[in-house]
Amino acid sequence: MASSVYELENLLERRAAWSRLGLTVGLVPTMGALHAGHLSLIGKAKAVADRVVVSIYINPKQFAPGEDQESYPRDAENDCAQALAAGADLVWLCPPDSIYPKDWATSVIPSGVGLGLESNHRPHFFTGVATVVARLFALLKPQFAVFGEKDFQQLKVVEQLNRDLCFGVTIIAAPLVRGVDCLALSSRNRNLSSEQRERALAVPRSLQVACSAYAEGERSTQVLCQLGRSVLSDSGIAVDYFELVKSSDLQPAPRELSGDDTDLRLMVAALCGTVRLIDNCALDTPPCP
Ligand code: PAF
Repeated sequence: MASSVYELENLLERRAAWSRLGLTVGLVPTMGALHAGHLSLIGKAKAVADRVVVSIYINPKQFAPGEDQESYPRDAENDCAQALAAGADLVWLCPPDSIYPKDWATSVIPSGVGLGLESNHRPHFFTGVATVVARLFALLKPQFAVFGEKDFQQLKVVEQLNRDLCFGVTIIAAPLVRGVDCLALSSRNRNLSSEQRERALAVPRSLQVACSAYAEGERSTQVLCQLGRSVLSDSGIAVDYFELVKSSDLQPAPRELSGDDTDLRLMVAALCGTVRLIDNCALDTPPCP
């Protein structure tokens, strides 16, 4: 029966019962404030796993002092209703002490794909993400876990950690979901005022402009990135980064492109007021219709 649990013991009992029945488990890790993007992750998990668990945990380890942990949107009741309606079998509402025991003393520090981009601006972030994902995998032991391409670098970090620590979880990447106005769906969008939301549309537009310039023949990485950055700064949005990288390893793209660049991805992070937005797209696939 679909339901929600708070206690780790209850979660583990349900997990054990599924194992006894030979059922596979898919995990959709979230921090709550669910939107259609999260529901699409649940759909992906349902397509491969017999049972789907959605975890909701605002992980303190991925926020630095002064970041938006306190103001991160919270909507547990609605989250449970949405997740169960989307087909989750269990919503794991994790109270803080159900994830890290009091004597917890371990951190997972990603290198490689975890360096650069987000880490240049939020150096603590991927250690927090990798530590909590490792803990969730170790507790639930899912066969599958679904992560959105919206957090493209996070997806790469999780794939690496899964390989390095031999969790044996099949990681499934789910495409980024956009609103009708092309803004990438994000829980943090709830913290945008209507004026800021209007301004935030410059984020997908910056990607669109760079993709269009590439489609029209521009081959300088520097020029493409500068075009994107200008769209953001012209809209009064502070740019953390706007970079072109190789999708496979997130290393910088060549300075001059060949025109046959199938593995390249534009990555952007920017601040609209105090709300930090990230977005990305393949260079040969403009984000907006
Ligand atoms: O993407 C998120 O919501 C979080 O970073 C995650 C993966 C749930 C870890 O806290």
